[in-house]
Amino acid sequence: MTQKEHLIIFDTTLRDGEQSPGASMTRDEKVRIAKALERLRVDVIEAGFPIASPGDFEAVKAVAEVIRDSRVCGLARALDKDIDRAGEALAGAAAPRIHTFIATSPIHMERKLRMTPDQVVAQAVHAVQRARRYTDDVEFSPEDAGRSEIDFLCRVLEAVIAAGARTVNIPDTVGYNVPFQFGELIRTLIERVPNADQAVFSVHCHNDLGLATANSLAAVRCGARQVECTINGLGERAGNAALEEIVMAVRTRQDHFACNTRIDTTQIVNCSRLVSTITGFPVQPNKAIVGANAFAHESGIHQDGVLKSRETYEIMRAEDVGWSENRMVLGKHSGRNAFRARLKDLGVVFDSEEDLNATFARFKDLADKKHEIFDEDLQALVSDTTLEASNERVKLVSLRVCSETGETPRADLVLAMDGEEEPGTAIGSGPVDATFKAIESIVNSGTILRLYSVNAITSGTDAQGEVTVRLERGGRIVNGQGADTDIVVASAKAYINACNKILHPRERAHPQTADV
Ligand code: KIV
Ligand code: ZN
Repeated sequence: MTQKEHLIIFDTTLRDGEQSPGASMTRDEKVRIAKALERLRVDVIEAGFPIASPGDFEAVKAVAEVIRDSRVCGLARALDKDIDRAGEALAGAAAPRIHTFIATSPIHMERKLRMTPDQVVAQAVHAVQRARRYTDDVEFSPEDAGRSEIDFLCRVLEAVIAAGARTVNIPDTVGYNVPFQFGELIRTLIERVPNADQAVFSVHCHNDLGLATANSLAAVRCGARQVECTINGLGERAGNAALEEIVMAVRTRQDHFACNTRIDTTQIVNCSRLVSTITGFPVQPNKAIVGANAFAHESGIHQDGVLKSRETYEIMRAEDVGWSENRMVLGKHSGRNAFRARLKDLGVVFDSEEDLNATFARFKDLADKKHEIFDEDLQALVSDTTLEASNERVKLVSLRVCSETGETPRADLVLAMDGEEEPGTAIGSGPVDATFKAIESIVNSGTILRLYSVNAITSGTDAQGEVTVRLERGGRIVNGQGADTDIVVASAKAYINACNKILHPRERAHPQTADV
């Protein structure tokens, strides 16, 4: 049997994923996701674009300082100021990588950069050399490679490899390529670039035609040994190739791939949930691998087949990607040790005994209201405790809502603003509207509500509702989350969480709105 090669999984959820409109993350949220990605055993975590804003710089720096088992990467245009900023942000990383890029397609060079091809080559080479001052691990991307001329691509790649790029990444920036042609592009580049053996060839595919995963896999068949992807396929416009699809396709169809990843696939569902909760981007039920229905069999014929022999209709095992078979995990009488052990299985490790105690107290409250506690409930509890633990200026003290047929709903609440309790009252078109108006009567956040969504965490009418609220002020976008068995309370928590983020001066601006 021939030895399989290693396929490098480069996760860009925290960078390209964050470029999904509205998917903004705070520094602490990025650190939480980065830790989950490290547990998933991704090889490289692209943590952000440090020049984009002081907040983005801080987020990359914070990720670089805590992650030890994955490489941490920062993005930089092929400009000295970007590269220096990335180098600075990554100074504390155990294994730093700088990823620098410049566009190479005729349309981008002429109309966006207004540069000649010679100038582009010179700038690319200079950028790689400058990045090498900070780390040996430099990656170069010819942006819009999918629409670039092949002779020019070969010239640029040869030059940047000679200048010290150890990874050359071929992005299909606008999602224009199709699998057979994209695979051939990679094969041709590897054959024609004279020093191709001195670099890893990588691919970065966007999903505008729904082909990001197929294009990436075609490239792997043709010699690419790094795939750039995101959890849940998050990313600019229609998104990037989904990490879970790439990893499970390579693993499930080993007969077609000469390589394998080092991913701990049992962490996939946890990561997917965490990213979905933090960004407020729900996972569609029929999404491959991580959708709620991905392993559900509805038709009688299928159910009968699976009961007789599961392989009749299942090509993967749900538990291999982290769906737990026995999902009812804890109840009212469960103790702290069982609670801690179950959360450890879910990849949650507490920083301190106080954090454990605070979450355990919430668990006991929830167990009083809800008979069966599922993994999803536990994850929401952890999120809620983390939200409360951060330095919040606004806290919910109490809430009373009156909603009656034929009457106008009314909310009366008390908030603690910077430690001072203040009452607020408002009427609204519904109980949630009244609650948000009552909060605004105290906070005056000056924001516009961009998204309100409620999702039942588990089934049953006693399920917790998980609410996401997206607020915008002056181009800055934040997402707030809240969970509770009472969805009006969950909504209030989510709104207050978003307000706390917008009121926080050190929170980062969204890269799309940053002036770089
Ligand atoms: O899509 C793209 O071209 C990118 C590059 C920065 C790699 O995200
Ligand atoms: Zn991209």
